[in-house]
Amino acid sequence: MSKASTFSAPKGVPDYVPPQSAEFVAVRDGLIRAARLAGYGHIELPIFEDTGLFARGVGESTDVVTKEMYTFADRGDRSVTLRPEGTAGVMRAVIEHGLDRGQLPVKLSYSGPFFRYERPQAGRYRQLQQVGVEAIGIDDPALDAEVIAIADSGFRALGLEGFRLELTSLGDDTCRPQYRERLQEFLFGLPLDEDTRRRAEINPLRVLDDKRPEVREMTADAPLMLDHLSDTAQAHFDEVRAHLDALGVPYVVNPRMVRGLDYYTKTTFEFVHDGLGAQSGIGGGGRYDGLMEQLGGQPLSGIGFGLGVDRTILALAAEGKTAATPARCEVYGIPMGDAAKAALVPVAHLLRTAGIRVDLAYGGRGLKGAMKAADKSGAVVALVLGDRELEHGEIVVKDLRNGEQATVPLAEVVARVGEAVDLA
Ligand code: HAM
Repeated sequence: MSKASTFSAPKGVPDYVPPQSAEFVAVRDGLIRAARLAGYGHIELPIFEDTGLFARGVGESTDVVTKEMYTFADRGDRSVTLRPEGTAGVMRAVIEHGLDRGQLPVKLSYSGPFFRYERPQAGRYRQLQQVGVEAIGIDDPALDAEVIAIADSGFRALGLEGFRLELTSLGDDTCRPQYRERLQEFLFGLPLDEDTRRRAEINPLRVLDDKRPEVREMTADAPLMLDHLSDTAQAHFDEVRAHLDALGVPYVVNPRMVRGLDYYTKTTFEFVHDGLGAQSGIGGGGRYDGLMEQLGGQPLSGIGFGLGVDRTILALAAEGKTAATPARCEVYGIPMGDAAKAALVPVAHLLRTAGIRVDLAYGGRGLKGAMKAADKSGAVVALVLGDRELEHGEIVVKDLRNGEQATVPLAEVVARVGEAVDLA
């Protein structure tokens, strides 16, 4: 029985421990691999930044900024915030290091923890893990399609199937302001409660995201951005769709999509999985025309996504799948006695140097217990070394898949094991 610990992880903060941690790594790395295949370079960002970066970058009217940020004063009395998302930090770093003055687009990918003080529930954590990409500096619909296709193939490469891609356009600065006014005019004509009315004043789009049935009903005929796009934004959206069709990436247009962050313009998308209950978004992203300028940089556009690693694991589980994870080790060494241990430790080291994953039975267990541990470790080969073998400069190599075993000279062990492992 496990002993109750004095401490537990903070509320809403998941641990990933073996064996589940192997799946966490497989899902995260699988999603990253899709981005690497399209030439995205790695960016490692600070976990905390100036609070103002997120307030200005993510948007003062969003729930993320007003209710969910982990903000605190450091010992120098500066207000800092644990990053709630990655895009604002990437833009800050791109500007700070002048990457936007080099070759465009700047293509970057990242992964790691993000922090939002949300009400914890299944699939909604306060420390969440994302894999993200950003392609900055070129406003080309083909790039939008590339970013979306990377996410789509990342999920598919993991074996995920039951998700759909929802797509819309949030317009540009020539059509969005007029649409906003039109929507506000519509909303102010409705008998809205005071809170909702205030929301309509600050960010009317968010009212379309209201889950209450009475508000849904009232806003059923609200004007939609997609019906009021400028010619440029419409042409951009049409081209993105044509590229996605050509790439064979399926999608549905959802003109009522509302994202939780304020920086989006033009192409905006979400990946939704129906096996997850309320927290169905496994990834999302879009284009952000004004963000870099708003953060003090050039007026360059960008597009990117953030994919939820935690939710992708849950989505796989909902489909009865797990991401393929490598066994913890390939070879398990079992020394019978101290002299054998002294001889086997360097053998294990030699095998590791040759790139083979090896673990040893420590603690002087009996053969039976050690063989059990070997099976559990996932190894395909057990190396058993007893006094008799040691005396003859030999070792027993046992293939755990078929039970066959051979006694071979110690000097040949790397070659023999290499052959056996290659067959695995
Ligand atoms: P986001 O939609 O806020 O976008 O988050 C992206 C993904 O992170 C979500 O689709 C979801 O899978 C996961 N996620 C968000 N909150 C939680 C949570 N509390 N618990 C578990 N998973 C969560 C962004 O963050 C943007 N920065 C994406 C982006 C990049 N847009 C452009 N570039």
